[in-house]
Order: sequence, then C-alpha cells, then structure tokens
Amino acid sequence: MCADKIKIDICCGTTCYLLGAADLVQLEAKLPDEWKDKVEIAAVPCLEACTTDKLGQAPFVRVNGELIPRASAEAICECLFELISGQTRGGAR
Ligand code: FES
Repeated sequence: MCADKIKIDICCGTTCYLLGAADLVQLEAKLPDEWKDKVEIAAVPCLEACTTDKLGQAPFVRVNGELIPRASAEAICECLFELISGQTRGGAR
C-alpha cells in the first residue's frame, strides 16, 4: 500500500450495493491506464451515510475522505481528474 495513492472506498453496504455500487466495483477497468497506479480502490462496508437523511443519495463513494453522493463512474472520474491534474473540468462541481 502506498500512502500517496488516491484512496477510493466504494460502499458495498446493502443500500448502496442495490442502488449502483455493484457496478462501481468494476471502476478500475474504466479508468485510463495512466491513472490505475495512482489509485487504491476498495469495497468497504456501509459508510453509514445511508443512516442519515442522505439515504436517497446512495450509492456513496469516499475519495480521499470526501463523500460523493449519487456516485457514478463519471462523478468519480471527475473527482480523480481534479485530484490528479489539480484542475477542474467543466466548471462547477
Ligand atoms: S449502504 Fe452505503 S452508506 Fe450505508
């Protein structure tokens, strides 16, 4: 494990898994090759965001500690792009 890698925790608790996390566990295959050695992807138990009023925003993914609601491969890639390049793509996020 390398401390410099971007840590991606994909919530695989029941709620998130049923609402899309099942597809996100294939995330690494969708990443550009040059990003793959920069990230560490893990499937983790419930992040407990679903126990709050954010329940309707599942699935949740945590990227370097930042919780991403309604996570999609696109949203995660956008976040990774910002972290890797230090830039924001397409304006607001
Ligand atoms: S199942 Fe994902 S936050 Fe609870």
